[in-house]
Amino acid sequence: MALMEAPERNIAFDLVRITEGAALASARWLGRGDGKSGDGAAVDAMRLLFNSLDIQGEVVIGEGEKDEAPMLYNGEKIGTGKGPELDVAVDPVEGTKLLSYGRPNAISVIGAAPAGSMLRPGHSFYMEKLVVGAAARDAIDLDAPVAVNLGHIAASLNKDVNDLVVFVLDKPRHKQLIEEIRLAGARIQLHTDGDVAGSLMAADPHSDVDVMMGIGGTPEGVISACAIKGMGGAMLARLAPQSEAEWASLEAEDIDISRILTLDDLVHGDDVYFAATGITGGTFLSGVRYDKTGASTHSMLIRSKTGTIRYMESHHNWNKLMQISAIKYD
Ligand code: FBP
Repeated sequence: MALMEAPERNIAFDLVRITEGAALASARWLGRGDGKSGDGAAVDAMRLLFNSLDIQGEVVIGEGEKDEAPMLYNGEKIGTGKGPELDVAVDPVEGTKLLSYGRPNAISVIGAAPAGSMLRPGHSFYMEKLVVGAAARDAIDLDAPVAVNLGHIAASLNKDVNDLVVFVLDKPRHKQLIEEIRLAGARIQLHTDGDVAGSLMAADPHSDVDVMMGIGGTPEGVISACAIKGMGGAMLARLAPQSEAEWASLEAEDIDISRILTLDDLVHGDDVYFAATGITGGTFLSGVRYDKTGASTHSMLIRSKTGTIRYMESHHNWNKLMQISAIKYD
């Protein structure tokens, strides 16, 4: 009988402990009107937990440049310095305003992939994105009119266009996009923030959302790509600078703004890991729930090499919570 090969390390299991910690630390700020403190608590927890992780990590997508972010800044080395060399993308609270107002879909997220495989957004802050699940992966074209894309997506899903639900960020820049989607006959979920959750929902065949369309953050695009790789969905993107300064920086860096970026351009290869934990809760991931003995979290973890997607419910007792939360408040 042939001996079975020992399974490789699945880093997503390590990452989920970190997103759980960040969610636990920040969820106390739900609806308190102070997303910044919630984000700070999540950053502290993530940093603390990364320090015990055997990786040689570099933050490629982080809290910003070193000057404005004391921790988890772009270029920061994280981990114990032993183990695999990784590019790491973090968003301790994706949807700071969602947390601040107690709205659904604030999540804590991490993506990781071998060193050198993630797009470094540089001075690009915004990108146009189109995300679908595996069944419609060949149906999308970023240059095609909205109605054409929706028609092709609907056909791949064996639906009518008016059965589709499109996730769109509710921003003035999307006025025309929203009109075009409505004119095509599709339905819309408008969300104030959180297009990583929107991308995850679009890629998940079991969610209510079929497509995610529109302009959102470039860092959030790279993080979403880490998840979509493992979920088998598709994502197309194109840098979409929203200010004169952003245009000028990209031009100065000689970056081709018209280029369509595929999933592989955003994160290369098939050795990609992703973990997310719900903070405020939503239809996709439940939020942190407290009880007399501690708190429960709901997470997802993905490994692209095998395409394994796990959902995890964890209960944490007060000792663990004190360890993480005492950093900012007790
Ligand atoms: P933050 O967590 O950094 O606040 O991002 C929330 C978010 O809604 C993202 O999901 C999205 O990609 C981006 O902001 C859109 O940016 P803007 O709010 O400037 O349109």
